[in-house]
Amino acid sequence: MTDPAASCPTDDRPTASAPRKRLYIQTWGCQMNVYDSGRMADVLAPLGFAPTTTPETADMVILNTCHIREKATEKLFSELGRLRETKAARRAAGEGMVLAVAGCVAQAEGAEITARAPWVDLVLGPQSYHRLPEMVARAARAAGAVIETEFPVEPKFDQLPAVAGPQAVTAFLTVQEGCDKFCSFCVVPYTRGAEYSRPAAAVLAEARLLVAGGAREITLLGQNVNAYHGEGPDGASWGLGRLLHALAEIPGLLRLRYTTSHPRDMADDLIAAHRDLPIVMPFLHLPVQSGSDRVLAAMNRGHTTADFLRLLERLRKARPDLALSSDFIVGHPGETAADHAASLALIREVGFAAAYSFKYSARPGTPAAGAPGQVAEAEKDRRLQELQALIREQQAGFNASRAGLTLPVLITGPGRHPGQIAGRSPWLQPVHLIGPLGLIGTEVPVTILTAHPNSLSGALATGEGQAHVQPRQEIAPA
Ligand code: 5AD
Ligand code: SF4
Repeated sequence: MTDPAASCPTDDRPTASAPRKRLYIQTWGCQMNVYDSGRMADVLAPLGFAPTTTPETADMVILNTCHIREKATEKLFSELGRLRETKAARRAAGEGMVLAVAGCVAQAEGAEITARAPWVDLVLGPQSYHRLPEMVARAARAAGAVIETEFPVEPKFDQLPAVAGPQAVTAFLTVQEGCDKFCSFCVVPYTRGAEYSRPAAAVLAEARLLVAGGAREITLLGQNVNAYHGEGPDGASWGLGRLLHALAEIPGLLRLRYTTSHPRDMADDLIAAHRDLPIVMPFLHLPVQSGSDRVLAAMNRGHTTADFLRLLERLRKARPDLALSSDFIVGHPGETAADHAASLALIREVGFAAAYSFKYSARPGTPAAGAPGQVAEAEKDRRLQELQALIREQQAGFNASRAGLTLPVLITGPGRHPGQIAGRSPWLQPVHLIGPLGLIGTEVPVTILTAHPNSLSGALATGEGQAHVQPRQEIAPA
C-alpha cells in the first residue's frame, strides 16, 4: 500500500449566491489530517469560505502537512515556491491570497517556515485549528506572519463548530489525539503532543450528526485510538470498548471501525467488543513495526512478538473472521539481516490482509535519529522490497480467498463505469458491481466473482443474501 494522501473534498458547483471567498486545502498524510482539513473548512465556512479545486482560484490556501517521514519539509518548500508565484499572479490581477501552513511540519518547524518563506501568512499546529478565523483576521492586520504552534489548555474540539450538512457514506471521527508512547523513531509525541481523549458525549453527538447527514460507516480516529479514555456521561472514564457499545446504539449507523491502535492498549473490553458487536467490522489495523524482539526493544514498543501473537490469538477467538493489517519499518538503527528475517517470519506466521511498510527515516529530535547502527539506504531498499513482495502476495491471497463468497457490501457511491456502483467489504476491500445508484448508503449482499490485487468485483446476490455470519466465541483471559 502507499501512503494515503488526499486533497480536501471539494464541491465547486455554482450556488445561487456565489461564495464570497474560495478555499483550497492540500492534504498530506494520514486520515487524521484528512479529518482536520474537513474541520478547518467547517471553521472557515461562516467567514464565507467555500471550497475550490485549484490554488489559482483560491483566496485562501492551506497546506496541511505531515512530518512522519522524511522529505516532508522539502516537499512543503517546493510547493511554497510554486504558490509564491501563484500568489504574486493573483496580486497582479488585483486579488489576494492568504497562505497558511498547517499540520505537523508547521508544528515542528514553526518560525523556520516563515524565515525561509516570508510570503507565508499563517503557520498553525494541529492544536490551533479552532483559532483559524481569529488568525485570518489577525493576518489581515499583521505586517508579518501569524504563528500558532502552542499546545493550548482548552481543547480545540470544544471550540470547533459541530459537523453540519450532508455527509459521505463513510466518515472519519477523531476521538483521541496525541501519544505518550515515545517510540524511538516517531515524531508524533512531539508534533501532536500528549494523549488527549474527547469526552464520550461529544463523540456521540458528532456521530449522531454524521449519521443524520447520511454517514453509515464511521471510522474512529486517533494516533493511539485504543488508548482512548474519555470522560463518560456518567463521569467515569470510558475506554474504547465502552465507547463502541454506546456508538453501536445509534440508529442508522451500520458499521464501526477504529484506527490506529497500539498492541499494548488492546484492553479486554475492546477485544470483547469485537465478539459482541457485529457493527464493529472484522478488520483491524494493528502496527507491530518489526518481528524482532531486539528491534522492538530498541524501538521502545513495550511488547514482544510473542505478546503480539498471543493478542492476535485472543482477537481471532473473539472474531474468527478478523483480518489484520499492520505497519512495518525496515532498517531501524541496529536492525541486522537476522532481525529483518524475523520480521518476514512473523509476517508469514500471521498472514496479513494488507500492510503499510516504510524505510526507517531519521526524524530530528527522536532518540533513534542519533542511535548507532544506522542502516545503509541500499540495504533498506532491498529489505523493503522483500517485505513488500511478501505482503503483496498475502494481500492477493486474502483477496482471492473472498472469491465465491457472498458478503455484505456497503455501497458508497457510483463506480467508474456507467451502471457500476462501488462499495466496501467488511475488510475494507473496494468492491465494484453493476447496480442502481439508489443502493448508495445501504448494505447489500454481493457475491464476489473476481479478486484483483487491490479490489474485488462481484454481483448483487439474488434470492437469500448469504451475508457472512460469524460464530460467537468466548474470550480467554489476558
Ligand atoms: N521512519 C519510518 N517510518 C515511520 N513511521 C513512523 N515514524 C517513522 C519513521 N521515522 C511509520 C510507522 C507508523 C506509521 C504511521 O509510520 O510504521 O506506524
Ligand atoms: Fe508514534 Fe504510534 Fe509510537 Fe505513538 S505509538 S510514538 S504515534 S508510532
